[in-house]
Amino acid sequence: MDAVEVIRTKRDGGELSPAQIDWVLGEYVRGGVADEQMAALAMAILLRGMSPTELSRWTDAMIRSGERMDWSQLDRPTTDKHSTGGVGDKITLPLAPTVAACGAAVPQLSGRGLGHTGGTLDKLESIPGWRASLSNAEMLDVLREAGAVVCAAGEGLAPADRKLYALRDVTGTVESVPLIASSIMSKKIAEGTGALVLDVKVGSGAFMKTRADARILAETMVGLGDAAGVRTVALLTDMSTPLGLTAGNALEVRESVEVLAGGGPADVVELTVTLAREMLAACGLGGGKDPAEALRDGSAMDTWRRMISAQGGDPDASLPVAAVTEVVTAPIDGVISRLDAYAVGVAAWRLGAGRARKEDPVQAGAGVELHAKLGDRVSAGQPLATVHTDDPERVAGAVEALRTGYDIGAEPPVGAPELVLDRITA
Ligand code: URA
Repeated sequence: MDAVEVIRTKRDGGELSPAQIDWVLGEYVRGGVADEQMAALAMAILLRGMSPTELSRWTDAMIRSGERMDWSQLDRPTTDKHSTGGVGDKITLPLAPTVAACGAAVPQLSGRGLGHTGGTLDKLESIPGWRASLSNAEMLDVLREAGAVVCAAGEGLAPADRKLYALRDVTGTVESVPLIASSIMSKKIAEGTGALVLDVKVGSGAFMKTRADARILAETMVGLGDAAGVRTVALLTDMSTPLGLTAGNALEVRESVEVLAGGGPADVVELTVTLAREMLAACGLGGGKDPAEALRDGSAMDTWRRMISAQGGDPDASLPVAAVTEVVTAPIDGVISRLDAYAVGVAAWRLGAGRARKEDPVQAGAGVELHAKLGDRVSAGQPLATVHTDDPERVAGAVEALRTGYDIGAEPPVGAPELVLDRITA
């Protein structure tokens, strides 16, 4: 087999054979197919797409490039959630312990943030002592002890995706539905969960800017999950405005703990409870304890504390605080008629909460704290947001980005989207 022939097949609009797919991904991991050849193939896939048959073989070959985890020794059904990424999307933090408190096991492999969207591991690493890297045996111990584990994927999980995703990131080939769907689903299927709920974000702060594009991605991923025997449901949820009142690592942990304590912003609570109910229903525990009750009765908080402690974290430690803060105020009286997720994400990123390259460090205390949300009435001079950073020179660029994200008008926003826009099943 020859890499150039595989590239030409796709470049010219042909369908890759199962043998070509297995060969090219296998050789790519072994180093027999060069990065520039895989980059050309990824671009051909981005431009030409993939048939359902090609996509399911491609995903399967990515899974087979590494190990497939197995949780059959647990006495609880497994269920997980994956979000396609957004601004202020800290939902995994309250969600995983809430679902575990209702009787399921949540074995979640998470990632770090890139660009304007945050990563769950970066958020949890702001908790003093908390460790993201666990062996499979340690993962099992945490699952037995707390019912939920959130950690980094090991080197052995879908190595073809690990290598290909890094290449796509620097070759303009991230935004391809078959490549995104196979990348996400290969990792989730290899993770060994029995059920999966996908939170596919739609809007300025998300990968998918329109509902139509998000629906295509969701349907593609649900199809792949179902074909692999993982009960998969997708919700399309709004990401035109940030989730909750915080974007930034420690700031989002603080807000998540508020939700676990029975408080927190209404949209974060609503999405946590909605996704938890879906996760429980998907793993056969739909008629049991309700997630809203687990938040009310303290059992979700108890599970969170066990989960954090089991990974070396101190749930009672003070969270890091940034050295510098600045308040951004409303320029006029009126109603916030637009509060753009992307602008808030860029501001948080410029403050140091996110990274430009995957090897960059992040600041635990940096980010944006909102004091008013879409639809709120404000007066001139009233605080809209506080920016937090360790580097004073980052403030001006962040404030500039933040200001582009607001419209303040005489009227409330028209047609503000619902939080949950659609639900997709196989
Ligand atoms: N997240 C992934 O894991 N892969 C993609 O391709 C895009 C987002």
